Amino acid sequence: MWGALKHMPDERKGINVASVLAVRGLTIGMPDSPPIVDKVDLDLRPGCITCLVGESGSGKSLTALSLMRLLPPGIGLQADMLELDGEDLRELDDARMNVIRGDRMAMVFQEPMTALNPVMTVGEQITEALRVHKGMDQASADIAALDMFRQVQIPAAETRLNAYPHQLSGGMRQRVMIAIALVCRPSVLIADEPTTALDVTIQSQILRLIDALRVELGMAVLLITHNLSLVAEIADEVVVMYAGRIVERAPRDALFGDPMHPYTLALFAAMPRADGRGHPLATIGGQVPSHGERLSGCRFAARCPFAEARCMETYPTLREIRQGHWISCWRAPLEDHVS
Ligand SMILES: Nc1ncnc2c1ncn2[C@@H]1O[C@H](COP(=O)(O)OP(=O)(O)O)[C@@H](O)[C@H]1O
Ligand code: SF4
Ligand SMILES: [Mg+2]
Repeated sequence: MWGALKHMPDERKGINVASVLAVRGLTIGMPDSPPIVDKVDLDLRPGCITCLVGESGSGKSLTALSLMRLLPPGIGLQADMLELDGEDLRELDDARMNVIRGDRMAMVFQEPMTALNPVMTVGEQITEALRVHKGMDQASADIAALDMFRQVQIPAAETRLNAYPHQLSGGMRQRVMIAIALVCRPSVLIADEPTTALDVTIQSQILRLIDALRVELGMAVLLITHNLSLVAEIADEVVVMYAGRIVERAPRDALFGDPMHPYTLALFAAMPRADGRGHPLATIGGQVPSHGERLSGCRFAARCPFAEARCMETYPTLREIRQGHWISCWRAPLEDHVS
């Protein structure tokens, strides 16, 4: 189904260029309790899609929200580095972050109603973004908004600009949110399961659009998804999270060609093959430990078929075992694994 998604030629991909968003040691949590997300590193590069995968509860959404500095009240972040084009985002005040959000960095949420204002028409919302961030007058903003609605393939775009969110279907609202996210041509797009609630045809259209705009705008994309078939098709880099930590991180071909972490192997084993669609990772026995239950050793130890004594005692630091291929496992490299 995703076969038509086009990749940029390798030499045009930014895999070796400087990241537009550089994250080091990102740790998220509440005061006086163990971290929910622990020492995560990410590099979002121009024109590249980084896919973040892992079971529910592994900390993907909080990671995404923290990059936008939109964590829920009571949850804070620490990081050794959180830089957008060299600008330190860690200590920016709300006013400055508001300038960046929606302009240089935009986010698409799983549920569009959380992002849309119910008492403004969607046209007012998209033109407001252009007026605030790009200083456009109303007439120019109207033209740009209509153009963007057409790009996200909203039928009868002119009429729909006058609609309120509740007057639109779920798929239409999702396109509106994507249009608002993309209209200011952000350098970074963060999309948290942007299509999970939509039917397959609309999912495909929206992902094609994000993919096309990534190429056209050189946008860096962080895509959180459960759909491993899609990841295999669209990702440049894949980051696998488990219980708040990165367990494996590699370019797409390396990850799918030579997955190494036992958790990644279990994810792939749970991947359905026949219809190519992702599903919840039901075939991995056991559950992700909550952040209150985590012990000092490897967090996957209770579910790992290869666990041994040292796994219970000490956390295996993330190591780069081949260029760009990082893994956090005492057995790495797992020479004897069978896929
Ligand atoms: N608002 C919140 N308050 C307290 N804990 C939260 C909140 N949101 C998430 N968490 C905790 O963080 C963990 C990771 O959540 P989340 O980032 O939503 O995971 P994912 O997106 O991978 O499913 C959850 O299992 C939960 O324990
Ligand atoms: S460190 Fe041990 S328990 Fe953890 S994934 Fe590797 S082999 Fe399994
Ligand atoms: Mg989530």
